[in-house]
Amino acid sequence: MTSVHIKAVEKRFGETAVLHGIDAEIPQGAFAVLVGPSGCGKSTLLRLIAGLEQVSAGRIFFGEKDVTELPPRERDIAMVFQSYALYPHMTVRENMAFGLKLRKTDQATIDSRVDEVAGTLDIEHLLDRYPRQLSGGQRQRVAMGRAIVRRPALFMFDEPLSNLDPALRTQVRVDIRKLHDAHDSTSVYVTHDQVEAMTLADILFVLEGGHVQQSGPPLEIYERPANRFVAEFLGSPAMNMLPATVREGSLRFDASGAVPLEGPHAEAFGGLEEGQAVYVGVRAQDVTRCRDSDAHLTATARFVETLGSHVHVHCTVGEASFIAAFDGSRGPDEGEGIPLRIERFHVFDADSGNSLRSA
Ligand SMILES: Nc1ncnc2c1ncn2[C@@H]1O[C@H](COP(=O)(O)OP(=O)(O)OP(=O)(O)O)[C@@H](O)[C@H]1O
Ligand SMILES: [Mg+2]
Repeated sequence: MTSVHIKAVEKRFGETAVLHGIDAEIPQGAFAVLVGPSGCGKSTLLRLIAGLEQVSAGRIFFGEKDVTELPPRERDIAMVFQSYALYPHMTVRENMAFGLKLRKTDQATIDSRVDEVAGTLDIEHLLDRYPRQLSGGQRQRVAMGRAIVRRPALFMFDEPLSNLDPALRTQVRVDIRKLHDAHDSTSVYVTHDQVEAMTLADILFVLEGGHVQQSGPPLEIYERPANRFVAEFLGSPAMNMLPATVREGSLRFDASGAVPLEGPHAEAFGGLEEGQAVYVGVRAQDVTRCRDSDAHLTATARFVETLGSHVHVHCTVGEASFIAAFDGSRGPDEGEGIPLRIERFHVFDADSGNSLRSA
């Protein structure tokens, strides 16, 4: 296992700049997740760490060692990709053993490692089959097994679950995290799926447009997003954003209604200026239905999604759309006005999009 230090790394493909000065510290033994929308540079950053691409500027260290110029085979890494790339003419056992064979490991060690890892992954009964005789989920396990038997210092995953059906995704996701813990490894995992990101990561890096927008423990980022991008990217449904103006100790919504900045809010938002234009960010589950006289705002129901244990009510608040989540299985009727209290909210500057603290 190793730590990874990424210092001011830039990547250009010809004229196109893809990564603009990435700094990231991944502690030894951590499960790091790089998350962000398609095209933001996640795979590129992973390939730079692996040595499959060369940096345009900056350095990459594994522990104290500068690996920036090292070829992939000298970096002691194992990668698992979205497409499993197993060798079709080899059995599962041969596929798993291949990397060790190349390294001239003796046969007894190879056998015992393959058996041990096959046991952990619950694929012992598949060892004599060929890849074409396996399901997608089984192939993905074999691909992981092949990576694990080598005991690399660093595991890298690029969207390894995206070809699996939802039930299997959840199961393999749990397996990946268990394997990481059992093998004391350091892992870097790329996904655009925020559920995977939230559930797997010890440390999360949210990328957008070739920049790290925010990094830290996932819950911390979820609870204190640094800007609108991060706030709207993490969490499902996406955080609602209501345009508002600071007026006489309240956040007055452009549509109608207001939240008073009183009690603890007065302190948290002490820096807001009269007349400042902001967005009030409210997660779907952070509102409750209330009496008209207690309401901070009234939303108009447009469409109800029933999820069994709760409902998502798609509403409008003036021009803005707003999703509210309520327990139970019945939602309001279309067109009904719903008086809402906001229990928790975030405030973002309307111009910069930066967080002005949350309460
Ligand atoms: N070899 C290349 N030559 C030119 N441009 C490239 C190359 N590889 C990637 N890019 C560009 O760099 C940007 C980032 O690509 P990258 O594959 O890192 O995105 P990503 O975050 O992994 O996206 P996805 O979630 O779709 O996999 C994209 O705009 C892509 O078109
Ligand atoms: Mg990618």
